[in-house]
Parts: sequence; C-alpha cells; structure tokens
Amino acid sequence: LSEEERNLRSSRASMIILDELEFDAQVVTAPLVFAIIVAAASQFLVGYNTGVMNAPEKVVFPGHSTGLWSLAVAAFAVGGPFGAIVGGKMADQRGRRGALLLDTWTFMLGGLLQTIAPDMYTIIIARFIIGFASGYSSVLVPIYLGELAPPTLRGLLGTLTQFALVIGILIANLLAFPFANENTWRVIFAVTPLISLLQLLFSPFLLESPRWLLNRDPNSLRARYIIKRLRGLRHDHEVEAEVGNFVMGEAAQKQTEATTTAVLSEMISHPKLRKLLMSCIILQVAQQFSGINAVFYYSTAFFDGIIDNPLVGTTIVGAVNVLATYVALLLMDSCGRKSLILWSSGGMFIACVVIVLSLKGILGNMFALLAVNVYVCFFEIGLGPIPWLIVAEMFEGKYVASAMSLCCQVNWACNFIIGLVFPYMNQYLGPWSFGPFGLVLGSVFVFALSVLPETQGTTPDELIAEMTRKNSRSMVYEVNEEDAGAIDMEWRKAMEQL
Ligand code: GLC
Repeated sequence: LSEEERNLRSSRASMIILDELEFDAQVVTAPLVFAIIVAAASQFLVGYNTGVMNAPEKVVFPGHSTGLWSLAVAAFAVGGPFGAIVGGKMADQRGRRGALLLDTWTFMLGGLLQTIAPDMYTIIIARFIIGFASGYSSVLVPIYLGELAPPTLRGLLGTLTQFALVIGILIANLLAFPFANENTWRVIFAVTPLISLLQLLFSPFLLESPRWLLNRDPNSLRARYIIKRLRGLRHDHEVEAEVGNFVMGEAAQKQTEATTTAVLSEMISHPKLRKLLMSCIILQVAQQFSGINAVFYYSTAFFDGIIDNPLVGTTIVGAVNVLATYVALLLMDSCGRKSLILWSSGGMFIACVVIVLSLKGILGNMFALLAVNVYVCFFEIGLGPIPWLIVAEMFEGKYVASAMSLCCQVNWACNFIIGLVFPYMNQYLGPWSFGPFGLVLGSVFVFALSVLPETQGTTPDELIAEMTRKNSRSMVYEVNEEDAGAIDMEWRKAMEQL
C-alpha cells in the first residue's frame, strides 16, 4: 500500500465500522442465546413474584388478618426501589455479570426464606427481599442484554425480558390451580429458589458485557475475546470494527469512578441528555399510571360478577398478556418505538373508554372482559417493554446504569402508589375508576406524538447528533479481505491515539 492509500484508509476507517456492523448484526450465537436465557430467568422471577400472591391468600397461614396479607403483597413493591438503587451501583462497580450473580443470590435468599417461613412476618420479610431482588433485576437485565445485543436485535431482546416477566405471571396463575391449598402452598414459593439455583449452576458460562469492559479500558483484551465469541467473528478487523462501535464517542472520556448522583447531575446539566432523561422518566410514570398493575392486582375482584370463576378470568388475562407480548416480540424490530407507543397509548385509551361505558351499564358486562384483554394487549406492544429497553438505546454506557436506576426507582414508586390507591379509586369513582388512566393515556399519546425521539436502530451518538440536527449519515465503502488487514492496523493506531 502506498503512503497516500494508507492515509486515505486511515481517514475512512471509522466510517467503514458502521457498515461492518450492519453485516455482523444478524449473527445470533450460542453465548448470546445463553446469556439471554440466564438473564431472562431473573425477569421470569420478577413476574412470578408479581403474580404469586394472587391466589393463595386463604391457604397460607389461614386466619391471618387482611392487613398482614396486604403488607406481604405490598412489601414486594417496597423492596423494588431499594433494589433499583443498589442494582445500578453494582452494575457499574462489579460489572453486569458480577451484579447478576449477586442478584441471583438475593432471589435465592428471599425465596428460601419464603418457602420455609414459620409465620406471616417471615413471609413479609421474604417478600421485601424478593422485591429488592426484582427492582435490582429490572435495572440490571435490560442493561446487560441491551449491551450484549447487536443494535438490530436490541428491541427483540428488550421485549424478550418483558416476555419472561409475563410468562412468570402466567405460570404463577397456573400453578395456583394444583398447589394453592393448605398442604402444598410451599411448592408455589419453592419455584423462586429452584430457578435461582439453576441460574447459579449455569453462571460460569455467562459472558461479561464488552461495553462495560471497554468503558473501563478501551484496550481490554478480554472485551475483544468476548466480542469475538459473542458475535461469532473470525477476523480481528471485524472485532476491532465492533470495538469501535462500543468506544466511539466515548474513548476520549475514560470511565470515571463517578457516583450515580454525579452522573445524574452531569446529565441534568446537559440540555440534550436532560431531555432524553425526562422522556425516559415520563415513559416510566406513564407505564405505571396507565393502570396496568391495577388489572394484575385486582382483576380477580374485578371479574367477580362478570364471569362465574374470577380466577379463570385472571388466568385468561395472564394468557392474553403472554400472547400479546409474543406479538410485540415480532413487531419490535420492524416498527419504531415511537409508533408503537402511539398505538399502545391510543389503543389502551379506547379500551379505558369501553371499560367505563361497560361499568356504567351503557355496554354489556362482556365488553368489560373484552376491553380489559384489549387494554392488556395494547400495553404489551408498547408501554410494557419500551420504557425498559429505550434507556440503553438513548444513552452511552457511562450513563446507562445511573439512568436506568433512576427510571426503575420512579417505576417501582409509581407501581406502589397504584397498588395502594386503586382500591380507593374503585370505591370513590365507581364506574369511572379507569377514567384517570384514560386521561394519562391520552396525554402519553400527545407526548409521544410531539416530543419522543425515535431510537430504533440508532446508537446514542447518532441520536444526539440527530437532536443537534447534524448530518449523521454514514458513507458506504466496499472492503475486501486483503485490505482488511491494513484497516486493522490503521484502526489500532487510531485507538492508540485516542
Ligand atoms: C411491566 C411493568 C410491570 C407490570 C408488567 C405487566 O413490566 O413494569 O409493573 O407488572 O409489565 O406485564
């Protein structure tokens, strides 16, 4: 290669990277699938423990007061925000993989305690610990999978975690039929330590997030080794191209030991990051104030009088929830986030109107049953998964854990509020109880239409560039195998300079 050619290639190197990525993004490898299964198992446990207290109220330590039972149910949502704080910190300090193992041990501890509990008080403590592990998992799993996934699969993986969660809710509903009785209720609680044990057994095969490793050390050989396995790459120049994707825009600013608070105040003082952060928080509030958990916590009471067996009604909603999440899985990487949020909030809004009309007696009872299922379907194609997966799409690795942790705390706090307040809404608003949710959903529609940026298939860099209205289009170059070696060298040089 002549000096001139080398210079030319050097200047083109960073542009080629984006095109290399497009090629490799399609590869689904065994280590990636394995990481997905183990990480998604934690989200399964979140869902399982969301639904697990629905049925066995009368058989677990019969004779306990209603107050004590509600406390046991709510202790889950009390533990959540604390877990979200710690989960974000651990994800940064110990790495995504190390943090996941700690989370699994916490699930194990809470699950065992719940299974062998001698009284209701121990169950309350166990629910708090499991809630803690769940909040922790809600922060960690989307970060971990968002960082392992190639850009074109991020939506799919984000939805997959929601899929694991809703399957957890459904399995908890289904296991209630054979096991929610005075002799076997401990079997229902034993599922949590059992799944945690399986996760621990498989953990030696889990890969650390390359983005986390490269944030700490852009020259990390371990990160390169992981990227090679994770993406099924054969050539070094392909690995370096992928490394480029992880460090570009960040290489100049090495990971500092900044605390979550420091990172957050940095984000708040940066106008574009502040806008993105606000969008994330609004989506989290919208997710919970859409009233979804009012349905999951109180559907059995809601269906009382509408169908013969309310538990069957709850299980139907659980099953429809899983089916809708499966549809979301298919849609997520072909439709933009923004349009899905629009469909989701619009569809849920209409379902709320039908629920109100039905409860007011203008439409028949069966419309209420139908509308609740439609409401859940529209939730799962947008407001369910997107608030979780969008954080890793909007921010660079340095910001993700802190942003996610804040989002999670907001989410769990709103979850707790709905769980606490909905019975009173039901009592005082009567047939209008879904009215406030309709108002929230109408506002979310307007917000998505006017403010929310599209994040599908973009990198955080491109997103910021687009917001600054810079021209961020990449150029396309053909690279043959012979030239690839030279590009490797140029790229290494560029890395060293950075
Ligand atoms: C989302 C919410 C969670 C809710 C679930 C229902 O994951 O964050 O609170 O229970 O969807 O599918």
